Amino acid sequence: MVHPDAPLGVFDSGLGGLTVVRALLAQNPHERIIYLGDTARVPYGTRSPETVIRYALRCASELRARQIKGLVVACNTVSAVALDMLRVEFDLPVMGVIEPGARAALCAMQARERSRPSCPIGVLGTQGTVASGAYPRAVAQLSTRYEVRAQAAPLLVPLVEEGWVEGEVPRLAVRRYLTPLIEAGVRVVVLGCTHYPLLKPVIEAVASELAREPVAVVDSADATADEVAALLEQRQLQRRAPTVAAERLELLVTDLPASFQTAAQRFLGTGAPQATQIDLSVEA
Ligand code: DGL
Repeated sequence: MVHPDAPLGVFDSGLGGLTVVRALLAQNPHERIIYLGDTARVPYGTRSPETVIRYALRCASELRARQIKGLVVACNTVSAVALDMLRVEFDLPVMGVIEPGARAALCAMQARERSRPSCPIGVLGTQGTVASGAYPRAVAQLSTRYEVRAQAAPLLVPLVEEGWVEGEVPRLAVRRYLTPLIEAGVRVVVLGCTHYPLLKPVIEAVASELAREPVAVVDSADATADEVAALLEQRQLQRRAPTVAAERLELLVTDLPASFQTAAQRFLGTGAPQATQIDLSVEA
């Protein structure tokens, strides 16, 4: 039986899931979060589904051993190939980022269509997410009106992990990945990888430059945080007592805690705690 005062467990291959953590902290002010970044094995997006499932099961069992009340998979690649498996294996609420991402895309499409004709929805994602077809499936479950064009953008994850999120190099890579989408008429782009919101200013600028009109760039962080809040309320799992700021977030990583913490501080602000290194090769 899970307790409402227990923390939420959140994981990703590295830094990207912090984009979801930021939205979760902002929208769920009482909740505590344990975040695990599997920095020893990043990237996940270039690996086979079998490997991603194996990694995801290890991350999830490590978090479950810390008495979490729910699991947020802050990784599109894992959400694309391992969500059902995690739901079967763990007797916990498990939430992914792809359905919220698809919902955010539809909202952006509907806002755009008030003034302009329809266009395909573009998705930038990892190779694993694109190959899985998870976004076209998630969009089709919400509406059959929209075509989805997905483009793998594998270089963007190492750029973000390096902290290389502005300047000529990310602009060139982003340009290369966006060109086929914009040429296909895409004017709404979903960031189908939780690392990519760190490149959002570059993606927005390059997309609008290529299209010669504004292009909406959406990510799943806020929509995921909304869904988590609704689920906690529905299951009466909302934490009642406020949490002191210093205890709201615990950071775990599988490699290089110091550089992770520096990046986390840059991204989350000065409140980011120290990151602790753990070893996932030892069973939780
Ligand atoms: N941020 C993750 C995702 O949303 C994983 C990226 C990677 O490790 O390749 O897909």
